[in-house]
Amino acid sequence: MIPASFPDRARIDARDKVLGVARFSADVPVTGVLYAMMVPARIAKGTLTGLDTAAALRVPGVVRVLTEADFPAPPPVIENGPPPPPPTLEREIAYRGQPVALVVAETLEAAIEGAAAVVCTYAAAPFAALIDSEGGVREMGEEIVFGDAEATLASAAVVVEGEFLSPTQHHNPIELLATTAVWEAGRLTLHEATQGAGGTRGMTARALGIDPGVVDVKSPYVGGGFGQKGGLGQRQTALIAHASMLLGRPVKLVTPRGQIFHLATYRPLSRHRIRLGATAEGRMVAMQYDAEQEQSRHGIFPSAEYHETTSRMYGIANYLGTSADVRIDRQPPGWMRAPHPQASGFAMESMVDELAYRLGQDPVALRLANTGDVDFRTGQPFSSNHLNACLEEGARRFGWSSRTAEPGSMTADDGSLVGWGVACGSYPSMMVPAVATLRIGADGSTRYAASGHEMGQGIRTAIASVLLESLEIDPERLEILIGDTTAAPQHITAGSWGSAGAVPVAMRAAARMREAVAELLDGREIAGNLHRRLATVRRPFLEIEVSEVGPGQGQDVLQALQYGAPAVAGPAYPTFTTMSYIAHFVEVRVEPTTRRVRVPRVVSIVDCGRVISPRTAESQVRGGVVWAIGAALREATEVDPRYGGYLNNDLADYVVAVNADIGAIDVGFIDQPDPLANSAGLKGLGEVAMVGASPAIANAIFHATGRRLHELPIRIEHLL
Ligand code: MOS
Repeated sequence: MIPASFPDRARIDARDKVLGVARFSADVPVTGVLYAMMVPARIAKGTLTGLDTAAALRVPGVVRVLTEADFPAPPPVIENGPPPPPPTLEREIAYRGQPVALVVAETLEAAIEGAAAVVCTYAAAPFAALIDSEGGVREMGEEIVFGDAEATLASAAVVVEGEFLSPTQHHNPIELLATTAVWEAGRLTLHEATQGAGGTRGMTARALGIDPGVVDVKSPYVGGGFGQKGGLGQRQTALIAHASMLLGRPVKLVTPRGQIFHLATYRPLSRHRIRLGATAEGRMVAMQYDAEQEQSRHGIFPSAEYHETTSRMYGIANYLGTSADVRIDRQPPGWMRAPHPQASGFAMESMVDELAYRLGQDPVALRLANTGDVDFRTGQPFSSNHLNACLEEGARRFGWSSRTAEPGSMTADDGSLVGWGVACGSYPSMMVPAVATLRIGADGSTRYAASGHEMGQGIRTAIASVLLESLEIDPERLEILIGDTTAAPQHITAGSWGSAGAVPVAMRAAARMREAVAELLDGREIAGNLHRRLATVRRPFLEIEVSEVGPGQGQDVLQALQYGAPAVAGPAYPTFTTMSYIAHFVEVRVEPTTRRVRVPRVVSIVDCGRVISPRTAESQVRGGVVWAIGAALREATEVDPRYGGYLNNDLADYVVAVNADIGAIDVGFIDQPDPLANSAGLKGLGEVAMVGASPAIANAIFHATGRRLHELPIRIEHLL
């Protein structure tokens, strides 16, 4: 009934996207809409002492300037409760770019001009902008300890050590942060660019002190999320919602990219000191790893998670991991694709490569000899682990066996240095509870509504694959409603649990529908598809509702789903650990004089359990590798230590990888169902795709040049 492997299928929404039929949040037409623009703080820390709106109000078309006095006080913080919503407008300035006023106008131009005309005065206070700035407060976080790392390192035959740095980086999805709020007849509708319609609903209601039951959030298409639109609440959402409620008219804000850099979450700068010990034969036996990161004064992005994958991927029995936050005066950092393992993986996989060279071993063989079936951190088995198969298949496709180990030993016809590098990645696989309704009509229609957000990764296509493979329905009239709190309760789609939230419940819905049809027909044989069969027995439609919770979860989580459900991970899988894996093989070419680095080819082989939508899965891996090339060679946000904030807050100066930077990316899947992770046998893919690709590039650069680089991005000047 449910096939073991799924056929290739085009994106179900490809045509709509190409034709512009797919509507992103700012595209939704709303009559009588007002346009908003935020006024950002021009100091890094201090107090807003005066706000003169007279000139702004004289700009023709400006309707109102909202200030802190227009907003309710923030809700009290609940001990051990959900994270607080982001603040609205406040007089205390915590970071440069914090919104201090909101201008609402009849036109976008008037809103922009009005925002520029607001005059603010401040009492500035000393601030710390960088991890090493005076005034930063260092706070130790959780320690991850098992075995006796210190003693084992002291007696290990070989110890490699190094310190690595991953810079501040910002997500730059094509779609900007955008909110359109419509307050009408006691209901608030938010057309929001978000990965978490349910979370946005709950957070906005809490920020404004209103009943979440009157808030509807719609986000059927998202133009890239990557964690920036994570749904714990973007700062602009409640501002725009409140403006609409005060003015009695719809209000729209599309946040300019330059402001997003200062307002949204980002990947914080982090430092990683590692000592990795092994036996003379190359068995990794102990690791000490101290991680620290930049953090805002009240930020919650957890530093201990740098140890999540590094403590588990190789069977290291003795581990001592520390984590620290350095609290400074910037906006809160947050989850950005492959949040911790992008940085920790760079450090760890560089060290593993160095260990291979120190031992005189092949870096693929060293890894193959160290992976295992047991998670040493918990003592539990992995539900599945095909990392070695990824390494073996990747090495075969790449042609790894013809590599010569000596750095600088391979050259191309044009004289460039050739480097071949390998690195692995892993990421915890999780799932979220979900509710789905499925309605099949005798008229040929099918309507499926469930939780999930389509942000380009292909979740709608994965759902369609399940329904079309298991039900005889008309594909032309299949409607999939997701990202909409009026259609079904919505979780946050993040943390690589999108498919694990969307697919098992879709399979359950399809199975339940087949049963319902069989009951209805009561043994009668009727030819034709399900629509035809319903028509024959004169039933206009058949509708069913199903739900799915994670292993170890109770049905009560379905209630929490309304306001952004938590994912099930780690401990909620009581007897095993579930991780996705990837192995990346990279070729670099280093031009000998200019030291320009090119990446002509990458082979990436993934273990993400069963693959549901091969085409979008492949595309997602390619996207992760492209981003990792950007992270390895291009991307860094430059913090301004003099005034706070960021210097390169636009896509001209924040340099991302472009088409000309990308060569061949060959993606393969092991495609073995995980027997335990969820009923669909799939594991997460979105994050793991990126993990390990940046260090594979760094390792390839070492192989080409003999230079071990400890800081990303790797630039020409590091190689001169
Ligand atoms: Mo992701 S960084 O959890 O959207």
